[in-house]
Amino acid sequence: MMLQIKALIADGILEGVKSIAPQSEMSVEDVLGLLEYPPDPAMGDIALPCFKLAKTLRRSPVQIASTLAPLVSGEAIEKAEAVNGYLNIYLSGAYLANKLVPEILTKKERYGAPDVGQGKTVVLDYCSPNLAKPFHIGHLGTTVIGHALKMLHEFAGYKCVGINYLGDWGTQFGKMMVAYKKWGDRKTVEEGGVDALVDLYVRINNAIADDPSLADEARAEFCKMEQGDEENLALWRWLVEKSVKANDLTLNQLGIAFDSYKGESAYTDLMPAQVQRLRDCGLLKLDDGASIVDLTEYGMPPCLILKRDGSSLYPTRDIAAAVDRKEMYNFDKCIYVTSNQQILHFQQWFKVVELMGYDWYEGLVHVPYGTVSVNGAKLATRTGNVVLLKDLFAAAIEKVTEIMEEKNPDLKGRDDIAEAVGVGAIVFYYLSNNRIKDINFNMEDALSFDGNTGPYVQYTYARACSILEKAGGEVESIENITLTEPVEKALCVALSQYEERVRVALRDYEPSVITRYILDVATAFNRFYHECSIFGAEDEGVKATRLALTAATKHVLGSAFGLICLRKTEKI
Ligand code: ARG
Repeated sequence: MMLQIKALIADGILEGVKSIAPQSEMSVEDVLGLLEYPPDPAMGDIALPCFKLAKTLRRSPVQIASTLAPLVSGEAIEKAEAVNGYLNIYLSGAYLANKLVPEILTKKERYGAPDVGQGKTVVLDYCSPNLAKPFHIGHLGTTVIGHALKMLHEFAGYKCVGINYLGDWGTQFGKMMVAYKKWGDRKTVEEGGVDALVDLYVRINNAIADDPSLADEARAEFCKMEQGDEENLALWRWLVEKSVKANDLTLNQLGIAFDSYKGESAYTDLMPAQVQRLRDCGLLKLDDGASIVDLTEYGMPPCLILKRDGSSLYPTRDIAAAVDRKEMYNFDKCIYVTSNQQILHFQQWFKVVELMGYDWYEGLVHVPYGTVSVNGAKLATRTGNVVLLKDLFAAAIEKVTEIMEEKNPDLKGRDDIAEAVGVGAIVFYYLSNNRIKDINFNMEDALSFDGNTGPYVQYTYARACSILEKAGGEVESIENITLTEPVEKALCVALSQYEERVRVALRDYEPSVITRYILDVATAFNRFYHECSIFGAEDEGVKATRLALTAATKHVLGSAFGLICLRKTEKI
């Protein structure tokens, strides 16, 4: 909605620019890129800082602003003022609201969807934990950022395939086998679930630290797996199954499921063909017995393809997997979400894929994120250094349950709601920052009901729901919107920006854009709620408008929650 209005404004401005400088090559897109939302509505709803045009137009910002002001007009515009080199544009609240609110009420949670993905396929590789190792807080980033990107792409009309590329192969399984054969048994693992597995994992790692010969034992066990030893493979399959099941419990709490769980082990057979292609392209070089692709020319260290003993490596498997995915899904984009420690790894093998002559290399996208630390020492497991996701979630749920028992003791279905709010708090907190920033996790902050938190926005959603319930249900349509208070217009301005924000989030692979947008809408709605009486409105028209605004807010929040894995809470 806002996009159309902005396009109109940009047309007017461009006309002015061309009248001052007829040979200017400026486009509507360029102008759109210059428009800003002022921090304070007193400075307009949209502004153009004219100093940005001063160089092109060879005029002072003050002159430019006053030349352009009369050119920005139309139904959507209340007025355009030149102030100190800024062009401040005030939108007509009545126009905006009457276009916007009926549109939201009709489209409901489809409102704001940019129609840019039709006919295109996106593969998303995220979560992808190394099995036989704990599923810990370090996996939160890839899991929730990855899923948010999937939801954003689906919203925009892309066909999406979410892949949990399980780290289900490698020496860590050799270690687990040694541990299991020494100390484990079926019953303990069946009953103890993930905790039993983590115990074995921690125990073997400590034991190896004391007695390095155990590492050789582990390598030997893994070697047997690679050679097809049926006993070890059976044990491996069972350990994989147990870990996947355990991880799924946590993923279920997030409401995340995958379309494919094809992991690293699936690529053993598909790798030799790619290694051959590398050889055929003349890209493979021997280096101290290992096979590498030299990337000096591109300013990178070599990409390791085969170890000295001929066994394959992480990049090799990634290359084989990418080829396989291209064949299976014919993706337009394949997105990988991992920590920033793997940036070089992806740069290297993306380059290798390009050098191999695969023209789809441009569709490969790496989305890195910063590291997470935690200061709640109590959450740490016995190893003292990993925080399991399931324990983090359990602690959050417990805390929320306590708060809710105090605030709303009679609430029905409290367990479900506590899970939605507890897990949601963690997700929201995590996604509040730009993904590339490092995060220090603070439980108190995440769970607070009054900060810029998950509980706060879920509470706001519940508030909208209960208003509508009290009024007798959903608002399906509205004929005539009558705005009486500035906070109502401000709410409309916030709601009108949804599609634009979704586009930015997609462009930058940045879910935090949506998190911040949710806060903007929640804040605008709460202001509206506190300043405008709904049930005590002066007349029926005003009341109907306010209910329609409430319903519109509910749709937009509900839709945006879905984009960042936050559950909708009708009651809290
Ligand atoms: N399993 C890897 C890890 O835990 C992440 C895999 C990311 N995906 C990929 N295609 N490399 O570090």
